[in-house]
Amino acid sequence: MSGPLVLGIETSCDETGVAVLEGYEVKSSVLSSQVEEHARFGGVVPEVAARAHVEAIRPLAHQALTKAGVHPDQLDAVAVTRGPGLVGALSVGYAYGKSLAYSLGKPLYGIDHMEGHLFAPRLAFEGYEPPAVVLLASGGHSQIVHLKGWGDYEILGGTIDDAAGEAFDKLARFMGLGYPGGPAIDADSTGGDPEAVRFPRALRDRPFDFSFSGLKTSVITYLEKAKESGDLPPRADVSASIQEAIVDALIAKTFNAVEATGVEVVGAGGGVLANRRLREKLSIEADERGVGLFVPAPALCTDNGAMIASVAVDRMEAGASPDGLDFDVDPSMVLGS
Ligand code: KG4
Ligand code: ZN
Repeated sequence: MSGPLVLGIETSCDETGVAVLEGYEVKSSVLSSQVEEHARFGGVVPEVAARAHVEAIRPLAHQALTKAGVHPDQLDAVAVTRGPGLVGALSVGYAYGKSLAYSLGKPLYGIDHMEGHLFAPRLAFEGYEPPAVVLLASGGHSQIVHLKGWGDYEILGGTIDDAAGEAFDKLARFMGLGYPGGPAIDADSTGGDPEAVRFPRALRDRPFDFSFSGLKTSVITYLEKAKESGDLPPRADVSASIQEAIVDALIAKTFNAVEATGVEVVGAGGGVLANRRLREKLSIEADERGVGLFVPAPALCTDNGAMIASVAVDRMEAGASPDGLDFDVDPSMVLGS
């Protein structure tokens, strides 16, 4: 494989990620997680995140370049996450990327974080090509995208309240499982019965949209009642049942979109795609329908610098101009707009 050498920087939330790509080949991808720093607060604290990015970014960039065996002068471009995300966190990556691009005299690209998630399967599978239906599920977003071509997206649906990851995080907090909630519920569900409690699967009449706030209320009400009556089921059963409700909603809407568009390829990205049950059920459903499924390894589903660099590679190969050094970060950036 060949192509431009791009350094990608991701700092939109609680992970500092830096990667070096040569075309779509990942030469290195390193991460500094802030999970421990936020865990004692039960969630991401924006000020803590920004400060942790400041501390991590320089050594991490150095580590990514060393691991890739690439000298900064060899880079063809620098890519940073422009949004959506926490403004302070985004600003750290942008400031670092901008100064690096300026000092090296290289172009700078400002990338949409969700477009990064959309591109992640491309780094894992050479045969992954549009048209595809893509399920994006992270801590801040849940969307069903019709990927018509690289850079040509139609958003078919999304969440009308909480994102899937947010639902995991809030429910895990309520159950005292800690932060981040997705991995906690995933682990806690081991050996649990996913049919133990039938929690609601909302918005059946809106084929591509999600709603998770009803699930949250239903779980909280259920647990309070069960506690009162002294009839609490094993926690693993509750975790497995919550997970099943979220997973079923994500799968149903994804395959509604497959039917509606007639495409035969499903891609997926975002932190929630690290979920073992979601991966398993997606694969069963895709097999049954004879649809190609492209879900990268968990490390490419959760936030990382490689997915950010990959969007820049695509733009460079398409001959798009870089973004200059003076754009602003955009905490509320919307995919495809
Ligand atoms: O994409 P991501 O790393 O960051 C954002 O862009 O938000 O996604 C983070 C989200 C969190 O809500 C986290 O709880 C969830 O992904 N997550 C999971 C799992 N691993 C991470 N959710 C369910 N199961 C997992 N194994
Ligand atoms: Zn993300």
